[in-house]
Amino acid sequence: MTRDKKEVGMEQSKIILSEKEIPQAWYNIQPDLPEPLAPALHPKTFKPLGPQDLAPLFPMELIKQEVSQERWIDIPDEVLDVYKLWRPTPLHRAYRLEKALGTPARIYYKNESVSPPGSHKPNTAVAQTYYNKKEGVKRIATETGAGQWGSALSFACNLFGLKCTVYMVKVSYQQKPYRRVLMETWGSEVHPSPTNSTNAGRSILEKDPECTGSLGIAISEAVEDAVTHDDTKYSLGSVLNHVLLHQTVVGLELKKQLKLAEEKPDILIGCVGGGSNFAGFCFPFVKDKLQGKKIQIIACEPEACPTLTRGPYRYDFGDTACTAPLVKMFTLGHSFVPPPIHSGGLRYHGDAPLMCLLVNKGIIEARAYHQNPVFEAAVLFARTEGILPAPETAHCIKAAVDEAKKCKETGEEKCIVIAFSGHGHFDLAAYDAYLGKKLEDYAYPEEKIKEALAAIPSIG
Ligand SMILES: Cc1ncc(COP(=O)(O)O)c(C=O)c1O
Repeated sequence: MTRDKKEVGMEQSKIILSEKEIPQAWYNIQPDLPEPLAPALHPKTFKPLGPQDLAPLFPMELIKQEVSQERWIDIPDEVLDVYKLWRPTPLHRAYRLEKALGTPARIYYKNESVSPPGSHKPNTAVAQTYYNKKEGVKRIATETGAGQWGSALSFACNLFGLKCTVYMVKVSYQQKPYRRVLMETWGSEVHPSPTNSTNAGRSILEKDPECTGSLGIAISEAVEDAVTHDDTKYSLGSVLNHVLLHQTVVGLELKKQLKLAEEKPDILIGCVGGGSNFAGFCFPFVKDKLQGKKIQIIACEPEACPTLTRGPYRYDFGDTACTAPLVKMFTLGHSFVPPPIHSGGLRYHGDAPLMCLLVNKGIIEARAYHQNPVFEAAVLFARTEGILPAPETAHCIKAAVDEAKKCKETGEEKCIVIAFSGHGHFDLAAYDAYLGKKLEDYAYPEEKIKEALAAIPSIG
């Protein structure tokens, strides 16, 4: 006698691919965009950047990927070999969350938290480190805020035998030591930024010896370190086209997994800091949407850093010191000072130009959330599905919960997929603050946005 799978509690909870099914090529969305991407501009001349402008910072292969019009870019065997340490990542069906919500919606999450550093970041860290090594680079310099990106790059550099120098925003270095310890365990040198070893750091410390640092300052220090050392390049963990490209392994695997589950996604939801995990997750589906498939794609951000929901779409500098190129994006102004919310990875003033173009065209929609409801959703997720989400990830869990509740009202059986970008095991202080009712909601003031926008050069 055959029994219904549901009856015996044997519904498939995880959809797992074999290692042979790791995608062999990354998907480059550039040739499929509804209009060409506006070029990145030189920070001094405001003229379009050429490859030679970027050569002191990045290996040539990454510069080529940045502007490539090839739809598919092969993933090198050496990169695939490292991906196999944790890829393919599982796609989970969130049965227990569905049950707690009493929703007819089917909720899935693509779990990038299973990587050794605990997030999606190594998908690009491994690729970037590989190309640096291939071109003879001996050391990579980077910045990190709370430490997610720094730990992913440390992990990758350690595996490929490159040195790694991380400029970590001083306040995080002092207050959140465990990510630093992880980076040091993988062999990196971690400096509290601002340091006394770069001109950028020294000039800040001269003015303010007690300065606790910012991502903008740490970027300036890492860039200066790279351009003043022949054997060293710089690496960025989000925003740039090649970073988003490397993250498409996530969405390409997801496509195969949904097919195995005989599902078609109605709603794809991710969180956005610079846009890399969200883009990697949804770009392979954007292609389908542009060809007429009906898919709702939702980007989630904090109310405290409402780039996509309240910033204008225009050219701005990538960093505070105006030394990074200008790109066309939604922006809160490069002098934006992030308020102290707990989602360290979602506090950048701009967003990836590729994603911004699609938001501007209405193909992707954006929503902003306060941190208390975000943590409420995170705790519900932890109590039902077991995994403690990163505060960044919790933003899209909040959106998924809202959508699932709407389905409960309408009776619609929608298929909702969450980009589960990372776990929150290093963010327990944030959970402690939430559970102790000490978290404050904060919407970024309109006057501050206006003030910061007034300082942006008017281009195009
Ligand atoms: C877990 C996690 N999710 C999301 C983000 C946001 O970055 P991105 O928008 O580049 O994916 C970060 C950034 O540090 C992160 O650590």
